[in-house]
Amino acid sequence: MAELTADGAEGADDAKAEGARQKVHIRTFGCQMNELDSGKMLRLLEGRGYESTDEPESADVILINTCSVREKPEQKVRSLLGRFKPLKDTNQDLILGLCGCYAQQEGGGLLRRFPFVDLVMGPDAIPRLPGLVMDVQEGRSRQLATEQLDRQDYPFTNDLVFRDDHKVTAFVTIQKGCDSFCSFCIVPTTRGREVSRPASEVVEEVRRLAGEGVAEVTLLGQNVNSYGLKRSGEPPFDELIGLVAEVDGIQRIRFTTSNPWDLRPGLVDRFRTEPKLCSYFHLPVQSGSDSMLARMRRRHTRAEYLDLVQALREARPDIALSTDILVGFPGETEEEHSETLTLLSEVGYDFIYSFNYSPRPHTPASRNQPDNIPKEVKQRRLREVQDLQATITRERMLAWEGKTAEVLVEGPSRKDPTWLSGRIGQNWIVNFPGSPRQVGETIAVRIERVLSNTFQGAVATRDTEGAGSALRVLN
Ligand code: SAH
Ligand code: F3S
Repeated sequence: MAELTADGAEGADDAKAEGARQKVHIRTFGCQMNELDSGKMLRLLEGRGYESTDEPESADVILINTCSVREKPEQKVRSLLGRFKPLKDTNQDLILGLCGCYAQQEGGGLLRRFPFVDLVMGPDAIPRLPGLVMDVQEGRSRQLATEQLDRQDYPFTNDLVFRDDHKVTAFVTIQKGCDSFCSFCIVPTTRGREVSRPASEVVEEVRRLAGEGVAEVTLLGQNVNSYGLKRSGEPPFDELIGLVAEVDGIQRIRFTTSNPWDLRPGLVDRFRTEPKLCSYFHLPVQSGSDSMLARMRRRHTRAEYLDLVQALREARPDIALSTDILVGFPGETEEEHSETLTLLSEVGYDFIYSFNYSPRPHTPASRNQPDNIPKEVKQRRLREVQDLQATITRERMLAWEGKTAEVLVEGPSRKDPTWLSGRIGQNWIVNFPGSPRQVGETIAVRIERVLSNTFQGAVATRDTEGAGSALRVLN
């Protein structure tokens, strides 16, 4: 990223003098949902003649799409604003906006704390972004847009924004919000009530994406397993997958994220019957201890979770599993912690995401359960979780050596443009020598080397395909 220089500022003025398009710079934190939201914000502004820039110093609009689920969002926001404020001092017309979950959580407080910020908006206000920017530009004061649209006719149609970035993979929103209210989680507050997007809209968007060359879609929701259940006339999630699979050109389907307790047998069956469904499941568990799960308001037990894992593996023996682990939740005893460790060994996840608990405002835990696990204890437990998982992950990865798997080529490798990069169904990234013409193709690749978190391979030939590959993995 270019540093701020006087030249950069002058360059921006020159560009404007020539009547160049206005520029927007977007910084994104957080989950895939935020990434997708940032993409939508960009498309909406592109529709008004803006173009994207990686250089904040040449931007007319800077948007920070914030996340508040963990860690210290205020610090991140402060540090970025500290960087962008001098730009505002030299360019009075620069519009600075805070968007996303932290903006939703703090609302007008951010406008008070940061008097140079022009716009604070939550996720539900995204469709209004061009109008809000215009309002600021036309001098109609600073804008606050944090009202939530908690209604069944939530305007998902705004997701139907034309994409032209030639990507092979795409995210598709199928649901907004979450009604689960796990006691540690701020998402139901920041993203509001759960609403499922009508299946017809989802399929229409997938069709358009396929028409633009997208071969793999990831269906996104906070709890996809409850998709359609609260909206009469809509199919349940597993049937939605069936509808998406019928779209010509779609070769692979992924989804995230799932609540274990809403996982229906129909979805397990899809892994048996639907070859387009990738052999990968992210199934957040948080803890391996029943008492912990109850305190977290997760509505399942360890045994029920293990039953689901077994059912998924029976339905799709080569399925890769990942999870989220939350360490140091209030009251966590050594014994409860050790149950999480034994769960990791028992399941044998391919990889995990693990976090130290931090209280989030407006959550049941922050009100009722004091954050009483000392920081050093949390750190040590997190290290134990991560060290154990590193060993398991390594074993799981090494098991791929010599096997052949189908790779959907997503683009040239970042490090070497004469190599290609793509993923196997199990979500591992594979890099291998190839030509840019092969982007978008699904190629059988023999996995030859296991690096720290990716594989290196070579296009499989008749000879290598047979050799050493007991298993020819589809998707
Ligand atoms: N269903 C959502 C969950 C969002 S939160 C999804 O799409 O993934 C993602 C993960 O962040 C959770 O699974 C949990 O492990 C972690 N997390 C949530 N609240 C947290 C908190 N207060 N402190 C630390 N980690 C948290
Ligand atoms: Fe959060 Fe639990 Fe929903 S983790 S997003 S409240 S399923």
